[in-house]
Amino acid sequence: MSDEMIQKSLVLLKPDAIQRGLVGTIIERFEQAGLKIVGMKMQWVDKNFAKKHYAAHVNKKFYKGLENFITSGPVVAIAIEGILAVDVIRKIVGPTEPGKAMPGTIRGDFAHHAYEYADKKGIAIKNLIHASDSVESAKAELELWFNKNEIHSYKTVHEMHVF
Ligand code: CMP
Repeated sequence: MSDEMIQKSLVLLKPDAIQRGLVGTIIERFEQAGLKIVGMKMQWVDKNFAKKHYAAHVNKKFYKGLENFITSGPVVAIAIEGILAVDVIRKIVGPTEPGKAMPGTIRGDFAHHAYEYADKKGIAIKNLIHASDSVESAKAELELWFNKNEIHSYKTVHEMHVF
């Protein structure tokens, strides 16, 4: 298998996931799929950092709500590696709007926020997780969140079966 098929992606467990005590449950989903955690830390994002992470959304009308949400408590940042990991992780997570996410996805099983509700309240949609949406954004986001020496290289015991 070519090396470019082994990808890394950034997953953030947002403040709602931490405050609801879902950290272990969510991480388990990725581990059960045979994905490999190669970096992890808890961090309280400030407004400057939020603007860097969400640079693509800064001019959107929901940005203020998104900034308030992502800076409202600590998040857990996880670097995850696996075969075509970027897309696989987004499938496990489910679509951005939890109410449209299928049961079996993380958002479908644990959240039900809707855009209409978030817009009306002027808050960000509470969807528990952020996951990089492309290989390019994964690379940029991992560079923003992790120093090189915080990304680890090791073999998992079951790697011969899933990699
Ligand atoms: P995330 O995957 O972190 O990427 C951008 C975030 O902006 C998204 O999850 C949602 O939390 C939020 N978001 C995107 N669209 C909207 C919207 N229309 N209203 C409120 N929040 C949104």
